[in-house]
Amino acid sequence: MRRLGILTSGGDCPGVNAVIRGAVLAGEIVHGCGFMGFRDGWRGLLEQDVVPLPRHSVRGISRRGGTILGTSRTNPLSHGGVDRVRAGFRRNGLDGLIAIGGEGTLAAARELCSQGLQVIGVPKTIDNDLGATDYTFGFDSAVQTATEAIDRLRTTGESHHRCMVAEVMGRNAGWIALHAGMAAGAHAILIPEHPVTLDQVAAWVMSAHGRGRAPLVVVAEAFTPTGQAAPYAPRGLDTFGRPRLGGIGRLLEEELQLMTGLETRATVLGHIQRGGEPTAYDRVLATRLGIAAVDAAANGRWGTMVALRGTDIVPVGLEEALGTLKLVPEERYLEAAVLFG
Ligand code: F6P
Repeated sequence: MRRLGILTSGGDCPGVNAVIRGAVLAGEIVHGCGFMGFRDGWRGLLEQDVVPLPRHSVRGISRRGGTILGTSRTNPLSHGGVDRVRAGFRRNGLDGLIAIGGEGTLAAARELCSQGLQVIGVPKTIDNDLGATDYTFGFDSAVQTATEAIDRLRTTGESHHRCMVAEVMGRNAGWIALHAGMAAGAHAILIPEHPVTLDQVAAWVMSAHGRGRAPLVVVAEAFTPTGQAAPYAPRGLDTFGRPRLGGIGRLLEEELQLMTGLETRATVLGHIQRGGEPTAYDRVLATRLGIAAVDAAANGRWGTMVALRGTDIVPVGLEEALGTLKLVPEERYLEAAVLFG
């Protein structure tokens, strides 16, 4: 194995740079193998936008947020497909490719492998919803950022005797809401895996209010209350007379205020929780995944994704990796719900 390519695709995620550094250092030091980095995900591979990644180019990057390579949501299979990727491999003299990405990237990697190209996947999403791995790097950082933000919402909520609603990310699963909500001591956590009625949410809010607390609601962006149709129709006009846009956080702001009579404010954390420096946990997990991806390549384990199982990093088939979305189990939700009062 003389040369590998590496790319980062899909939404960025704290810890991506630590994967790149782990892979490049393990490649050079352990396996005597060089790296080429493609800019902006698959786009760089399709358009020959590529940079060599010698050891000094990854110095000190593991603590930096974002990705030094840039990212995009370009799908290689819908842009000229496998032949262009194959040409990219040939032009750059690659023995194989390490693709760091979420579901879309891993699905593309599986398709490329089925057509004879040599790819190893590294799972990446702050959502923590990939089935074959116990945790994804970036999740811990997102939870840390969300928890800090929710702690801040609590103090302003308490000062104004308001109900505060924090909407966090999680396209399909409620992991960030569950962990940040538990860490911040939310009075209600709302996740798509466990739909509840708005009446139930209002009851939790009033129960907290009745105990003299400023109610704190943490909601995952994908949550839909029972009996409501998603996506939510914009309701009312904002202060500029425009239709009020927004997701579930905005809907809760309006409905809870009406239902409880408490002044209610919603904050959508959005991309704040994806940016910034990775936590120490994420740096270590991401570095280990980078090293393991190169080991897997050296051992010819193409068509696998490196995954965290317990405390070990192991290669699992991309087929298995893509099989299931990891949703919050009911018992994990009920554990948290004990605290809502
Ligand atoms: O999958 C990661 C994620 O951050 C989701 O939580 C969120 O729904 C989505 O990406 C946002 O994507 P974009 O950055 O394209 O708006």
